[in-house]
Formats: sequence, C-alpha cells, structure tokens
Amino acid sequence: MAPSDMAPSDMAPSDMAPGDMTPATARAATNGDAETVLEVQDLKKFFPVKRGLLSSTVGQVYAVDGVSFTIRRGETLGLVGESGCGKTTIGKLVMRLLEPTAGVVKILGTDITAVSGRGLRPYRREMQMVFQDPYSSLNPRMSAGAIVREPLKNYGLDGGSIGGEKQAEALFARVGLKREHMAKYPHEFSGGQRQRLGIARALALNPSLIVADEPVSALDVSVQAQVINLLMDLQVEYRLAFLFISHDLAVVEHISHRVAVMYLGKIVELTDKRTLFTTPLHPYTEALLAAVPVPDPEISRQRLILEGDVPSPINPPSGCRFHTRCPYAVERCRHEEPPLIEVQPGHAVACHLREVGAPPIKLEKRASATA
Ligand SMILES: Nc1ncnc2c1ncn2[C@@H]1O[C@H](COP(=O)(O)OP(=O)(O)OP(=O)(O)O)[C@@H](O)[C@H]1O
Ligand code: SF4
Ligand SMILES: [Mg+2]
Repeated sequence: MAPSDMAPSDMAPSDMAPGDMTPATARAATNGDAETVLEVQDLKKFFPVKRGLLSSTVGQVYAVDGVSFTIRRGETLGLVGESGCGKTTIGKLVMRLLEPTAGVVKILGTDITAVSGRGLRPYRREMQMVFQDPYSSLNPRMSAGAIVREPLKNYGLDGGSIGGEKQAEALFARVGLKREHMAKYPHEFSGGQRQRLGIARALALNPSLIVADEPVSALDVSVQAQVINLLMDLQVEYRLAFLFISHDLAVVEHISHRVAVMYLGKIVELTDKRTLFTTPLHPYTEALLAAVPVPDPEISRQRLILEGDVPSPINPPSGCRFHTRCPYAVERCRHEEPPLIEVQPGHAVACHLREVGAPPIKLEKRASATA
C-alpha cells in the first residue's frame, strides 16, 4: 500500500503522549524521549492592547493562555478551532517568530525559549514552516532553484554550484516539480506548484518538525488532495513531525494522528483523531463536528447549534470560557475553570461534566437547539 493510501492512525500510535497532561510529573516523563520532537508546556502569549496618543496599554489579548502538548516523530497533531482562537499564534511561538509571555517550547528536548541569537541556529533548521499563501513567503526576485538553495547556503550546506544544483534538483523531483521549473520565478507557478515549492524549501535542511498553517486552504479542492497526499508521503519517508493548523475538519481528519481542539486560547479537547470524530466529549467539539455537512443524505446528524459569537479574547468569560455558548452550562461553569484532564486513556477534555466520577451524559440528547 502506498503511504498516501494508509490511514494515518495505522501508522503511528494514537495514545496520548505524557506531555499533553498538565501535571508536571506527566510532562517530565517525556524528557529524554528521543521520539518527542516538540514539547510545549503551559505556553502563553498575551498581546498588549494600546490606546490613545501616548499608546498606553489598556488591556491584553489573551491569544494563547496555557497550552501544553507534544508531537513525536512521524506524528501529525491537527490544531482546530474557530477564527481567532490562537492557532497561528501557537505556530509562530513554536517557530520562535514570537516571544512567549510564559511557558516552554522544547525542540528535541531543548528549551528554545531560553536560547537566543546564534544559539538558535541549530534549532531553527530543525523546524520549518509551510504557509497558507506561499506566494507572500517566496522572494519574487529569486528563481525557484535559488529559493530552494537559499537555506542550504545559509547553513553552508550548498556544496558549491554543481552540488547545490543537484540537491535542489533532487528536492524538486521529490515534491513533484520538474527540473525546468528551477529557472522559473514564483509568479510563473500555479498555486499548487507554489505550495510544492514552499514544501521543497521547507525540506531542504532535513527538519524534524514542520508547522503547516492552513497549507491548503487557498488551493482548489483537487489540488488540495494532491498536496495533502504529498505531505503524508513525505512524513512517512522522513519521519517528520507535523503541527497541522486548519479550519477544515475533513482535511484534519484525513491527515492527523491526534487532534487538539482550541477555544479562546485554550485546548479544550485532545485525543486521537478516530476517538475525536466518533465520540467527542467536549460540547464545543461536538458543535464543531455537527457543523460539518454529512455527505450521505440518508444520514442526518443531530445538530448542536452554537448561539452567539465567539467572545473577545481581550475579555474572555470567567470560569469555563465556553459557558456563554454552552447549552449544558451550570452555575459552577461560570466561576470555576475546568482543567484539561485525561478522562479516558489518551483522551483529555476540559469540561466539568466530564470529570472523573461525573455521571455519564450523551451530549446531543441534551442539546437545546437541534435541527
Ligand atoms: N500581533 C498581534 N497583536 C495583537 N493581537 C494579535 C496579534 N496577533 C494575533 N492577535 C490576536 O490574537 C488572537 C489569536 O489570533 P490568531 O491569528 O492566532 O488566531 P487563529 O486561530 O490563527 O485565527 P484564524 O483561523 O483566523 O487564522 C486574535 O484575537 C488576534 O486578533
Ligand atoms: S465546563 Fe460547563 S460550560 Fe464548559 S463546556 Fe463543560 S458544561 Fe459547558
Ligand atoms: Mg490563523
């Protein structure tokens, strides 16, 4: 079977990594694990809100507020949630494109938040980013071949004109581009080809981790499938770890081994993708899944309709941040924040109704608004 035909959950263990849990003891258990490529601990990013002539700080955007997870070699963690919940901010914090307000980002066991300047160079090559719009991240004045060789040159790995040319040619072939594409400029490529070029550049330094932020959202559906299958093939070949950020639950279901669901700066549910898509435990996850159209007209999903807009991350609701939209909210939810806890092996959820010892509930049976 070709790698792209395999279900991702057939290729990697789906149990929860110890680093996804909040207790320090569980997190510590991943230290020294050679299979752990990325470990994020209690990561926070607050952006100041400035007003007035003097630009004084009048508040904070709680964009990412205490997020922990791990990703192992050969594993894809999908990151989903509504617009503005903090997905891109997490990607940028992992890449060290933003300084965290608090928390730890470990690449291959080293806390890179404590490293700066030239000391970061060996870690920067281990993590690469693939963007939604490759065009804006590709230098329009450089040929495609030069774009792919640039990271090799930066790290002194270009091997001179012939060696560098050969390396670039091999990368082009690997992502499905032709040799003659090397002389072309970014504006001469189609959207799908540009994304392949972005992937070739990301692969040049043989990284351990790729952060892909909505990498196929701007592409036609048919091209999306090709690029996703390419990423999955490359992952198997190079045992790459992926942090895959997307709005599109169908794409996330296809590519991910595990999925983290975010709401207003926090992870509210994290488990293997099969469990998440068949037996979600958080009301917000259930609502997200209910919003996905079901292709078979014979099958209808009971729909949990979310009322109201996403609250502002400048002034997030007290207690459980989801309580203003949750049909199951009780008084306790308004003032007590539910921690993310492992309620079943490999399945973490942040909801008072799901804590150990709580009576079992079937969410859609209690949905107040159904269609
Ligand atoms: N540089 C910044 N300064 C101030 N606020 C910011 C900054 N970058 C992001 N934010 C805010 O942080 C929150 C999270 O933004 P982020 O871009 O991470 O969301 P997202 O989940 O990626 O959304 P989308 O799905 O629309 O891409 C948003 O409220 C956003 O407005
Ligand atoms: S803690 Fe309360 S408000 Fe939050 S998701 Fe659970 S039931 Fe809903
Ligand atoms: Mg984003």
